[in-house]
Amino acid sequence: MDKQQIFICDQCGNEFSKWYGQCPVCQTWNSLRSTPSTKPGRSNRRSATKINISKASDVSEANVRRLPTNISEVDRVLGGGIVPGSLILLTGQPGIGKSTLASQIGLNLSRQQSILYVAGEENPPQVKLRLTRLTQDIPDNFWFASETEVEALINLPKLKVKPCLIIIDSIQTMSTSQVGTQAGSPSQIKLVTNLLMQIAKQNNLPIIIIGHVTKDGNIAGPKLLEHMVDTVIQFEGDNNHAYRILRAIKNRFGTTNEIGLFTMEANGLKQVDNPLTLFSSHLKTPIPGSATSVIMEGERPILVEIQALVNPSNLTIPRRVAQGVSNNKLVMLSAVISRRLGLSLANYDIFVNVTGGLTIKEPAVDLAVTLAIVSAYKLKAIPTKTAVFGEVGLLGEIRPASFWQRRVKEAKRLGFKKALVTQPTLLKTVVKDLF
Ligand code: TYD
Ligand code: MG
Repeated sequence: MDKQQIFICDQCGNEFSKWYGQCPVCQTWNSLRSTPSTKPGRSNRRSATKINISKASDVSEANVRRLPTNISEVDRVLGGGIVPGSLILLTGQPGIGKSTLASQIGLNLSRQQSILYVAGEENPPQVKLRLTRLTQDIPDNFWFASETEVEALINLPKLKVKPCLIIIDSIQTMSTSQVGTQAGSPSQIKLVTNLLMQIAKQNNLPIIIIGHVTKDGNIAGPKLLEHMVDTVIQFEGDNNHAYRILRAIKNRFGTTNEIGLFTMEANGLKQVDNPLTLFSSHLKTPIPGSATSVIMEGERPILVEIQALVNPSNLTIPRRVAQGVSNNKLVMLSAVISRRLGLSLANYDIFVNVTGGLTIKEPAVDLAVTLAIVSAYKLKAIPTKTAVFGEVGLLGEIRPASFWQRRVKEAKRLGFKKALVTQPTLLKTVVKDLF
C-alpha cells in the first residue's frame, strides 16, 4: 500500500483527493479528515506480464466449505453457514439483540473450535454475564479480548489460539491509530473495516462485525460498510414485541430472500418454527373480525392473523385506523367493500391490526384485511383453520397471490384445512360462500 493521503468527510463518508473547507457533497464545514489511502498505488500495480490466470474449472472449492453455526435460522439466512474468510456485518438498532445473537453463534462454534470475541463495548465481566445467561457451561474455546485498537488483531497469527471465527462488538468502538479521529467516525470505520478485511482474507478467517444502526436505518457513520463487506445481515423487530427477524440484505454467497425468525427469551434467542405462535391471538372459538393470512417474507411463508373492528361512529368523517398495513390500503379496501359488496360502512369507524406487531406491505394480505372487516361488520366469524390470501382489485376481483402453492403448503403444515383463494374469482362469491 502506498501512503498517499485522501480526505474523508466525517459526516457523509465521501472521499476526496484534496482538502476542502466545506464538504462538496454534504456541505458540512471542517469535516474533511486526512487519511492514508488504502488503495493500491501506481507503484504497487503489477505489470500485465505478471498476471496469474487459471481455469475456473481448476480452482479448488475446498476453501469455500461453509462453517455451520448449527442455529438453523442463522444458517438459512447465510445460505448454509459462514463462508471462510468472509466479512459479515450484523446490524440492527441498539438493544435488539445483536450481541446476544453473536454470542450464541460463538458459543455454538466454540463447542468444536476456538472463537474470539473482541469486546470494545463491554468489559469481560459483562460479556461473561451474558454468556452465563445463555448457557450453563461456557466452552473453554470461547475466548475474549477487551480491545478497541484494530492493529492488535494483526498479531493474530502469533496468538496461541487459532480461532475459526472472530466477532467484533462493535465496529463503532474499534479504531486505528492511522487517523486521529474518534472511534465511530466514517474515516475510522472505513479504515478499520479495510484492516479487518485484510485480516479475514489473509488468514481465511471469517469475521462478524456488529454495527449499530441509527433510527433512520443507516449504519451509524453512514452506510459506508455495506459495500465493503461480503454479507450484511440485519436484525429487526421492536422492543415492544418479542419477535426478531434476521434478514440478509446483501449476500455474496447466497440469496437475500431468506429470513430467520426468533423470539428474545430470558435465556437468549429462540428459533421460531411455527410463526402462528407469535402472530395470532390463540383463541379456540372463532370471533368475528379475525382472518388468517399467509404472507411471504422473502422465500418464507408466514401465517399471520389480521384483526378488524367495525364500530358505529359519531364522527362526520369516520375513522380508518390501520396498524401493520398501510392506511391507504384500509381506505381503499373499505371503499371496495362498500361499493362491490353493497355494505354501507360510511357510518362506521374501522380499525385494522396485524397481530404480533408485524408490518405487511405485500398485496396478498388484501383479502384477509377485507374479510376481517366484512366478518366484523356482519358479526360472523370466518371458520377456524381457514387461511385466506389474494390481492383485491378495485373491481371487486381477487387475484391469486404469487407463490400461492407455497403458502398453501405452509398453512397445511400448520394444520389448516382450507385455503382461499388460489384461483381468480370475485370477492362477492367468496363472501357469499363464507358467511
Ligand atoms: P443485546 O444483545 O445486548 O443487544 P444489542 O447488542 O443489539 O444492543 O441484548 C438486548 C436486550 O436483550 C437487552 O435488553 C437484554 C435482553 N436479553 C434478554 O432478554 N435475554 C437474554 O438472554 C439476553 C442475553 C439479553
Ligand atoms: Mg451489543
